[in-house]
Amino acid sequence: MMKHTIKRLLLPALFAASMAFMTAAPSSAQATEITVYKSPTCGCCSAWIDHMKANGYTVVSKNVEDMETIKQVLGVPNPFQSCHTAMVDGYIVEGHVPAADVSRMLAEKPKVTGIAVPGMPAGSPGMEVGSVDNYDVLLFKPDGSATVYASY
Ligand code: CU
Ligand code: CU
Repeated sequence: MMKHTIKRLLLPALFAASMAFMTAAPSSAQATEITVYKSPTCGCCSAWIDHMKANGYTVVSKNVEDMETIKQVLGVPNPFQSCHTAMVDGYIVEGHVPAADVSRMLAEKPKVTGIAVPGMPAGSPGMEVGSVDNYDVLLFKPDGSATVYASY
């Protein structure tokens, strides 16, 4: 009984405190929700999800058996495909895209379908396997064209 009363008093105060914190940092991606479609058996997808969470994103993870269909329905052209496919603010995020580039896209709002790191380059977020590949982060459009947004 006592415990419940304390909780009731504390929770609104904590909520108010967290809201104040969020409004104090408007430029960050604190509360941005991203929905990730991934194969249930994909370990690197989960590692990328951890990377997004560590960078302030709220992740809704959905396991799907048929990723090929998801990519077709959402519209990820073949050359840009990777393992997982995510949606944030109407943009597609395909593969192991660094959170910083997702945040930059959300801030700049380019007129594109989405952002992608095709394939699964070693050293990209969630693909820390020891070796490190060079890779490009691409912005892509429905017609299959793309521009390089960042290079690592
Ligand atoms: Cu992967
Ligand atoms: Cu993945």
